[in-house]
Amino acid sequence: MDTSSHSTIVILDFGSQYTQLIARRIREFNVFSVVLPCTAALDRITGLRPAGIVLSGGPSSVYDDAAPQADPAVLGLGVPVLGICYGLQFITHHLGGVVVPAAAREYGHAEVEVTAPSRLFHGLPGKLEVWMSHGDHAQTLAPGFRVTAQTANAVAGIADDERRMYAVQFHPEVAHTRQGMALLRNFAVDLCGAAQDWTPAHFISTTVAAIREQVGDTGHAICGLSGGVDSSVAAVLVARALGDRLTCIFVNNGVLRKDEFAKVQTTMREGLGLKVVAVDASERFLARLAGVTDPEAKRKAIGNEFIAVFDDEAKRIFEAESSSGEEVAWLVQGTLYPDVIESASVHGPSHVIKSHHNVGGLPADMKLKLIEPLRDLFKDEVRRIGRDLGMPEEILERQPFPGPGLAVRILGEVTPDRVAILQEADAICVEEIKRAGLYRKVWQSFAVLLPVKTVGVMGDQRTYAYTCAIRAVESEDGMTADWAALPYEVLRAISSRIVSEVRGINRVVYDITSKPPGTIEWE
Ligand code: XMP
Repeated sequence: MDTSSHSTIVILDFGSQYTQLIARRIREFNVFSVVLPCTAALDRITGLRPAGIVLSGGPSSVYDDAAPQADPAVLGLGVPVLGICYGLQFITHHLGGVVVPAAAREYGHAEVEVTAPSRLFHGLPGKLEVWMSHGDHAQTLAPGFRVTAQTANAVAGIADDERRMYAVQFHPEVAHTRQGMALLRNFAVDLCGAAQDWTPAHFISTTVAAIREQVGDTGHAICGLSGGVDSSVAAVLVARALGDRLTCIFVNNGVLRKDEFAKVQTTMREGLGLKVVAVDASERFLARLAGVTDPEAKRKAIGNEFIAVFDDEAKRIFEAESSSGEEVAWLVQGTLYPDVIESASVHGPSHVIKSHHNVGGLPADMKLKLIEPLRDLFKDEVRRIGRDLGMPEEILERQPFPGPGLAVRILGEVTPDRVAILQEADAICVEEIKRAGLYRKVWQSFAVLLPVKTVGVMGDQRTYAYTCAIRAVESEDGMTADWAALPYEVLRAISSRIVSEVRGINRVVYDITSKPPGTIEWE
């Protein structure tokens, strides 16, 4: 979509793990913000006509030879600048101050005292609880700067009011910094004067108009649905623009959850008014999976089969829809902003893109053009847009579910029997988590079927059946995760229901591994 109409805060990424959070927080108060690598050319930055510039944190020391560099001219554009952590040191170093290793590194919670008034701290209390993560500090400030805040060990805030340059040693974007949002708002709204026009309603109307223009009056589009948030919101947006010139394809790959094939169809057709072609290809997929035990081989088998099925359906749809054979064909993809952000590459990207997660692909011999209506959005923004589009919470709050589905939660060979067993156990797990009001609190919660049989006793009968593991994790983005401390009563309910209701499982265990070193899925 055309984002040039928004006033924009440009964030230059020096490699901090928190850089994307800065953009998300600023967008939370409806100011548009983009992330560029710190090495972005000056005309690329000025081309966005930024209302202000944020210099992110980063893991390096400014005085190292290999320190990530930005064009120092970004400090002279005449728009307000906010340096965060490494950003403070970058400003200090480049404008004539001195940065040295700190006597005491500060990491984690810290208390900051505001020592002099500053527009950046306007309305904030005199003592701030903040999140710190630095080993260097500013020993001598650059000319024109004054200290505005301090910890017991280091300068925590500086300002040059004349040049409208501000910097903090702590991380306002991290939730542990309690006044962080207010500080970022002071910067973006008050100091930069950025308009708070990045609203769902505005996004929807400009995106719908842009899709109409892109596709024209005759083109047709297809969209693969997974039942998840991204593909559903993307489809609804495109349907707003194209009406029934959008056909959605929903494939049963044989490893969906219990009743999911039917439920998703009903929601998409009746709830969202989408035109959906549903293809039950479960037998094809399960035949492909027979004998396959290696996790990556399972992913490949499912990915390749999906492309083949999708390809067939797409051809059929375009043949049926095309009258002259000349219309351009379009493919809707739910690509999100984190997939397209270029990161500072000095010490590796500040986040890792998991390519194996993107099951599917372009049908090879079709000239499909891409519509990516969510390219500018973070995941939480996709939910906000979905809400504004009137989509049901049931879809918007769904926990992530992997493309290869239950296949990567059935360890060892995937057989129809095992799929049926896991579907039952998974349904109980989800039901109990929802009953306890925890479904939205945890990032993912699910059952895993282990190819391990153990002895049990039921009534007077000895049993010998599978073990099921329950996994529930809390996470912000899936990149790191903590196992969730589910209440014992919830674990008890899940366990006793699975053992008594699911034939084939006689033992339930709880996974208490965080990520890293574990992963969220077991395969
Ligand atoms: P891991 O297991 O790598 O998972 O900690 C991180 C997040 O990614 C999801 N995941 C996948 N999603 N295809 C997908 O579409 C996959 O092959 C895949 N593997 C993991 C996982 O559910 C979690 O949300």
